[in-house]
Amino acid sequence: MHIHVLGAAAGGGFPQWNCNCFNCDGLRKGTIKATKRTQSSICVSGDGINWVLFNASPDVLQQIQDFAPLQPGRAIRDSGIQAIMLIDAQIDHTTGLFMLREGKVKREIYCTDMVYGDLTSGNQILNILGHYCGINHHQVPIDGKTSFEIPSVPNLKFTAVALKSAAPPYSPHRNDPHPGDTIGVLIEEISTGKKCWYSPGLAEIEPHLPPLMNQADCIMVDGTFWTDTEMMDMGLMTKTARSIGHNPQSGDGGMIEKLDEFGDVRKVLIHINNTNPILREDSAERAILNAHKIEVAYDGMDIIL
Ligand code: MLT
Ligand code: MN
Ligand code: ZN
Repeated sequence: MHIHVLGAAAGGGFPQWNCNCFNCDGLRKGTIKATKRTQSSICVSGDGINWVLFNASPDVLQQIQDFAPLQPGRAIRDSGIQAIMLIDAQIDHTTGLFMLREGKVKREIYCTDMVYGDLTSGNQILNILGHYCGINHHQVPIDGKTSFEIPSVPNLKFTAVALKSAAPPYSPHRNDPHPGDTIGVLIEEISTGKKCWYSPGLAEIEPHLPPLMNQADCIMVDGTFWTDTEMMDMGLMTKTARSIGHNPQSGDGGMIEKLDEFGDVRKVLIHINNTNPILREDSAERAILNAHKIEVAYDGMDIIL
């Protein structure tokens, strides 16, 4: 299985257009040891030719330009992207769909009923696409048991599960969470049995998750914030990381402590907010991750399982 990180940053990217935090300012000025990152997305293939795009980032056009296997190569209109799976309805995971509107072949969209509801009500993007390429909506089962395949992306199998989270700020049910607002997905390559767990938005490793995560050869999880109060401490938000659906890395019950429980598999943090000190390669926080054998995803990272 080939997993390619298209964008490793959280919403806003790194640097973020209006952000003057230590990291964003330092990256622009070249005074910190870090590299820029686009907004959250990966693509996965079981044959190296046909790819499923996980999340459609606002930066998707740049991401396609930077990764040749997604570019047209077989016909006058063509793409390596055969299907798109949305793990939530957040802006950083869905607005790229607007950039993928051209062509007469319908986009194959895999998402939960909750995400479909948000993307046809609070945010009308799937309705609007109906006036361009059109879409085929495939409902993703979220019981953590029912696996499914995507016919146009051979040799891969998917098992999705509902995660504790909140719907996006624009959602009609923002303050009334439902199963399916956010999912985690176990991706399996059928021919090899290799598996990857992917959950860029993960507020808590709830008891129903380890049975799935324990099967994975690689665990890619939420790397948004270092502390629960990171945005509050900088005066940028009044909410904690956990309350907006992101378990921080440090502290009791944090991601480092939780990932340590998963033994000797590859562990990768993804969806990293620009304020997070782990973006600085020589930071004390990055050294702590290194000591725990936890990697920090970057744009262009390839994971071959
Ligand atoms: C989130 O996951 O909380 C986001 O990155 C928010 C956003 O896209 O604005
Ligand atoms: Mn996000
Ligand atoms: Zn910033």
